[in-house]
Amino acid sequence: MWKVVLLALCVYANIPSIEGGSSPNSEYVKLLFGDSGARYSNNIIEDANLDVPGLVKKYGYPIEMHNVTTPDGYILGMHRIRHGRDANNVPDENKPVIFLMHGIVSSSADWVIMGPGAGFAYILAEAGFDVWMGNARGNFYSRTHVRLNPDAILNTNYWKFSWDEIGNIDLPTMIDYVLVKTNRQRLHYVGHSQGTTAFFVMNSLRPVYNDKIISMHALAPVAYMAHNRNTLLLFMAPMANDVEKISSLMGIGELLPNNAIMSWAGQNLCMDESTFQPVCSNILFLIGGWNVEQLNKTMMPVIFGHSPAGSSVRQFVHYGQGIADKGFRRFDHGSRMANRKAYGSRRPPNYDLSKVTAPVFLHYSFNDPLAEVQDVERLFRELGRPVGKFLVPLPAFNHIDYIWAINAKELIYDRVINLVRAVERSGIDNLVL
Ligand SMILES: *[C@@H]1O[C@H](CO)[C@@H](O)[C@H](O)[C@H]1NC(C)=O
Ligand SMILES: *[C@@H]1O[C@H](CO)[C@@H](O)[C@H](O)[C@H]1NC(C)=O
Repeated sequence: MWKVVLLALCVYANIPSIEGGSSPNSEYVKLLFGDSGARYSNNIIEDANLDVPGLVKKYGYPIEMHNVTTPDGYILGMHRIRHGRDANNVPDENKPVIFLMHGIVSSSADWVIMGPGAGFAYILAEAGFDVWMGNARGNFYSRTHVRLNPDAILNTNYWKFSWDEIGNIDLPTMIDYVLVKTNRQRLHYVGHSQGTTAFFVMNSLRPVYNDKIISMHALAPVAYMAHNRNTLLLFMAPMANDVEKISSLMGIGELLPNNAIMSWAGQNLCMDESTFQPVCSNILFLIGGWNVEQLNKTMMPVIFGHSPAGSSVRQFVHYGQGIADKGFRRFDHGSRMANRKAYGSRRPPNYDLSKVTAPVFLHYSFNDPLAEVQDVERLFRELGRPVGKFLVPLPAFNHIDYIWAINAKELIYDRVINLVRAVERSGIDNLVL
């Protein structure tokens, strides 16, 4: 219950600043892109209720489902769109393989819910890629385990993981699976938010994985969070370890699961004619930063039908620790003894970013409370092989715009595709940026 109260408080605290009217920003966007036309959902309620395979099938794209079990027993669901619908629409063994990894409390749905022409997975499939989408342990598509029960009462063992495990165990398991299935040695990786954090974790803790990455594109890169401006996380940071202890005592290991209440709220409160719609957009802006022009409010029932998709309390606590101590280090178990047991040291060790030697491209923006420019610059300096740093050419672009912005294609996806194609064409060593 405290979660709901907390969220409600924060949301209402933000209400006075809604609906800024037309800004120079919207004129600028119109000038650049014109009217982007109807390339979105053709039925809001239907799309809010379909799962990823259902959605992909509905819009005429080929879908494959794959389950893969991690060494510690989590069963992860992956989705694959093997080819396009309108272009590049035959299976072809030689397509470049691209792996997409979602952010916190999200899922593979991020890459498809905006519909053909707007969702990155569809755009990539049309552009000639073999598209794989991962799902982190604990979310809607990866909420099973060979032994542990995510719904066990007063036993949160299933939920005792943060993005350390997602990077250290889930990503390597999924990537190896994709490479075997596609008969490749290497692939391209795109991550959003926590999908970037987990990548840096994987490559610093398990450097052999650097060789399996042709290029990595970090959308809203999150490693250092010293300058984080996200209200909820800031609020939690000083007491991150207490949050973990209290929630564990209360038997709460999961945060923001995908559930019927959210979907109901999405479809009843967030629809176009609803007076509550501003509350819905406030929740999104509260998390990701303000950018009224780039959010298609009509799509909010679909967004809330798929997000949040579930995560552990620890994922948030781990970010909270990074905000509090301004570092990028492994999960702090809260006691010297527990840390010693896990890491052989009193304090959790830093993730050594110099070990991330895969070629990394960072894509960042000015209005992202979770990936502040200074933090992104520090990350860029410390990475083993940073190749390029690209500012999204729209100052108001925020954290969630990478996934849901009306002009995400023009503002970010097209550039990523151009970079991946350039790497495919000339190789990373001969790349001219
Ligand atoms: C917003 O989404 C609706 C429903 O998918 C779509 O018809 C409309 O064209 C979109 N608006 C913009 C500005 O893209
Ligand atoms: C994957 O696992 C889930 C949950 O255990 C199950 O419902 C689903 O049928 C499995 N899918 C495939 C393709 O094996």
